Amino acid sequence: MCGIVAYIGSKQASPIVLKGLKRLEYRGYDSAGIALIEDSLLTVYKKKGKVSDLESHLGNLSPQSTIGIGHTRWATHGEPNDINAHPHFSASGNLAIIHNGIIENYSSIKTDLQNKGYKFNSDTDSEVFIYFIEDIQQKTKCSLDEAVRLALLKIVGAYAIVILSQDDPDTLIAARKGSPLVIGIGENEYFLASDATPIVEYTNEVVYMNDQEMAIINKNNLIIKTTQDVETIPYIQTLDIELNAIEKSGYDHFMLKEIFEQPRSIGDCMRGRLNAASGHLVLGGIREYANKLECAERILIVGCGTSWHAGLVAEYFLEEFCRIPVEVEYASEFRYRNPVIKEGDVMIAISQSGETADTLAAIELAKSKGAIVFGVCNVVGSTIARISHEGAYTHAGPEIGVASTKAFTAQLTVLFMIGLLVAHQKGSITESKYRELLVEMEQIPSKVETALRLNQQIKGIAKIFKDARNFLYLGRGFNFPVALEGALKLKEISYIHAEGYPAAEMKHGPIALIDEEMPVVFIATNDSSYEKVVSNIQEVKARKGKVIVVVTEGDTLISKMVEFVIEVPATHPALMPMVSVIPLQLLSYHIAVMRGCNVDQPRNLAKSVTVE
Ligand code: G6P
Repeated sequence: MCGIVAYIGSKQASPIVLKGLKRLEYRGYDSAGIALIEDSLLTVYKKKGKVSDLESHLGNLSPQSTIGIGHTRWATHGEPNDINAHPHFSASGNLAIIHNGIIENYSSIKTDLQNKGYKFNSDTDSEVFIYFIEDIQQKTKCSLDEAVRLALLKIVGAYAIVILSQDDPDTLIAARKGSPLVIGIGENEYFLASDATPIVEYTNEVVYMNDQEMAIINKNNLIIKTTQDVETIPYIQTLDIELNAIEKSGYDHFMLKEIFEQPRSIGDCMRGRLNAASGHLVLGGIREYANKLECAERILIVGCGTSWHAGLVAEYFLEEFCRIPVEVEYASEFRYRNPVIKEGDVMIAISQSGETADTLAAIELAKSKGAIVFGVCNVVGSTIARISHEGAYTHAGPEIGVASTKAFTAQLTVLFMIGLLVAHQKGSITESKYRELLVEMEQIPSKVETALRLNQQIKGIAKIFKDARNFLYLGRGFNFPVALEGALKLKEISYIHAEGYPAAEMKHGPIALIDEEMPVVFIATNDSSYEKVVSNIQEVKARKGKVIVVVTEGDTLISKMVEFVIEVPATHPALMPMVSVIPLQLLSYHIAVMRGCNVDQPRNLAKSVTVE
């Protein structure tokens, strides 16, 4: 979703801001722009399309300015075009704003301003925001930061903003509520961004702004205060991201790099937490509340997209091992349906970005009713990580490809460790089962490594099916959410219509779709529903469907029945999703590449969905 970058210091701002915007491209956007102060004049350059289109628009110009703000916009109010792109000028042209989020009461503010005679250029709520600020400043004759503060008190909605003023070319004013904003601290320079990726190559000292805070920044000084005008002491944290973690490192796409990183990311996620030889399993982040989980009457899991799929897998093993009822729900549905939440309920909120608006709202709702919330997030310092009572990071490293891959397997790793820890403490599994599962878990990185060797075979299968118009993905038990995830991956990046179903549900509808044109991907690894899935495969074959099956290594039955068999290493059924999802990630990747799709930045999608 929208991305913010800003710089103030002694260096040239435009290359830093443009490079930062490129680092944020992965979030998804449809136009880009920058504002600078050139020869004492506030100047805006903006363009529909990619940051490279903005660069072409700039041509040979190299704007000279040591202060600058930049934005990538994901359209909400008004179509993606040059005019709706950010930054937006105030009515006088003295101020420019970049804004992430949505101003919910913008329409009434706009009408008031129009009644005063203001004329707007764009359809955006953000332009209304900066007109409103300027109007307050002119009316009250106060300083700009005070006008911003007064405006924020009247604004309903979510925002991260940065404002640049022609009259005060040495100051940036920023504020946040609901949308993330990080301040990087250099030597006599500051960087602002929606996340740490544009900052990491310059400094590892950052301040994550809190909701209802604003920052007044000049190159030698940073002031943070609340919108209630109370100054706060900035809490400086150290980033532990390496620069190569946010670069492609020789891979054609971030998605491919991230798929291949999984043996390492799963290993990193377990490092220091799990040791099978000694029976050691500790999650520092849930130590204090572990007994709450153990005694929970019910576990509620919320998430969106891929994170919701990880929750579905967790439902199966948490119930099996911990014997605690689990409900998994889309955060977006949960927040609006007046759910029954009781004290003693524990919520597990899963989010790669830690910023998804619906998941955040679901957490706030659960907390307000007395539930304990555990966050399972990838992005360190993200909002969900901070507002949860406790939690565990997935430590997968930055995920840049919009389609989630390594975050999914890392989420499963954390969730599995939580399940095992609780089951062990509760005594709902035997010591020997606990030990056996620890050993299995420790072997997952090497099994994923083996599954990745299937890459060439899967590329061959992708070539055969790349022109299909529909795909069906079927699995049962632990592999049912994997079927959903496989279908989601394919539609996200190749734009092929794909559906995932529990295999047994096929006969209640989807079977009507099956003919010789329909590829059906089964996940039929060794578990208690294997024979039943074999029957479903027969049913598809009988209707001439084209069948691709992910099986356990050494499977002899299915390989005799179908042409396209993908063999993955054996593991415990509860851990199989981490292995069986690998060929599905690769299949969608190769199909999308062969269809000429933009794999890392698929159309219309955003990596971090900070609006409802
Ligand atoms: C977006 C992304 C998905 C992601 C979902 C949830 O839709 O494109 O890949 O699964 O948001 O994001 P989260 O950061 O909360 O896991």
